[in-house]
Amino acid sequence: MIQKAKGTYDVYGEYGKKIKELEKLMNSLMEKYNYEYIRTPHFESSELYHRGVGETTDIVSKETYDFIDRGERNMTLRPEGTAGVVRSYIENKMYGDAINPRKLWYYGPMYRYERPQSGRFREFYQFGVEVFGTENPMMDAEVISIPVNFYKILGLKGIKVNINTLGDKESRDAYRKALLEYFKPHLDDLCEDCKSRYEKNPLRILDCKVDSNKEIMKNAPKIIDYLNDKSKEHFESVKKYLTILGIEYEVNPNLVRGLDYYTHTVFEVEASVEGFGSQNVLCGGGRYDHLVEQVGGPSTPGVGFAMGMERLMTALDFEGINLVEHDHTDCYIIPMEGAVDYSFALLQDLRLNGFSVDIDYMNRKIQNNFKNADRLKAKFVIIIGEDEVKNNILTVKDNHTKEEYKVEVLDIIDFLDEHLEECDCHEE
Ligand code: HAM
Repeated sequence: MIQKAKGTYDVYGEYGKKIKELEKLMNSLMEKYNYEYIRTPHFESSELYHRGVGETTDIVSKETYDFIDRGERNMTLRPEGTAGVVRSYIENKMYGDAINPRKLWYYGPMYRYERPQSGRFREFYQFGVEVFGTENPMMDAEVISIPVNFYKILGLKGIKVNINTLGDKESRDAYRKALLEYFKPHLDDLCEDCKSRYEKNPLRILDCKVDSNKEIMKNAPKIIDYLNDKSKEHFESVKKYLTILGIEYEVNPNLVRGLDYYTHTVFEVEASVEGFGSQNVLCGGGRYDHLVEQVGGPSTPGVGFAMGMERLMTALDFEGINLVEHDHTDCYIIPMEGAVDYSFALLQDLRLNGFSVDIDYMNRKIQNNFKNADRLKAKFVIIIGEDEVKNNILTVKDNHTKEEYKVEVLDIIDFLDEHLEECDCHEE
């Protein structure tokens, strides 16, 4: 039997319902924040990721799905969303529009050739935002507030916000120099990956999972001591605005993030519930004031985040949160012999009038049809036989109270409107 590719998964059943509910909430949250939806292609030229995300990052050096298309072009399935959105921002000259800041949001699959494990997939979904055109630290705080508020709306309790700053270019260069000097005599104590990070991007050594508990890591220089005044001021303001927004956070001086493009603020939100598992980072992001320029656009500051939907689903399950409230069918139609065509037309009519309706396609016996109505959590069952067709009067049964009504076909929409509202009241 042909099986799904390693690190991928199918969506159906309860998971499907829940993810659809999350998508609705995500849409409505982004309307409230006044963000504009953007969709970019799932594959881009490989060069974009080499330039945008960075050659030294794991996701580009080890994890991309690369292919050569039939026109001999080097293409890559997107490993993340930021680079593509930046490319689109530049290509569509959004920097020339009067809309400033440009606040964009996206949702879709990303691809990384990682070792699959719980919370880590090769095809996974991200919901993210990218904001262009402002250095204002209020925006850093707004961006951090989006996932935090989303988790709050969903009812997640065990979350923790970690923040840090990488400073501007000047501060970062000074810090880089300090790290090179500090780690030089300790190179033999570091893992092989860290040895190569030392050459290419020493900041990433701080992010190493293998070496994280070693004494040399704990005593490494801290960025906070290398920040120039401008960078310090920016970070202090971000913290102040987070406090104003009522967002609790912890400053983690070793948080550097796995991607090369960050400047100033970086942050991650983790599921801090015991037993959650090692892949507990629910989302991450930060500021990237040089990325637009790096990808070939005019100098434009940017800030954003992305959250993994699979880890969010796990966190919801872990905390026993069920989002699917409207898990019912308004009406289930049971056509008897001689009434199938009439019933099928009624199904169409009711659906076009906004009701969720289903019909028996299996020619079930009447008892089995009532069982099926229960399975679909139908609020009303409409039974249609030859008499009903002849008289244009429907037999409608309230599936909860079992009360039976005779309703003229012309009145069925009003009847359902009225009675479904009553049903919803009962539920509350
Ligand atoms: P990232 O930290 O690489 O950042 O990914 C963001 C989130 O995507 C992670 O926190 C995690 O929840 C989820 N994620 C990443 N890899 C996997 C995987 N293999 N399986 C399941 N979930 C995964 C970015 O992608 C940046 N583009 C975020 C950003 C936007 N920074 C600025 N703007």
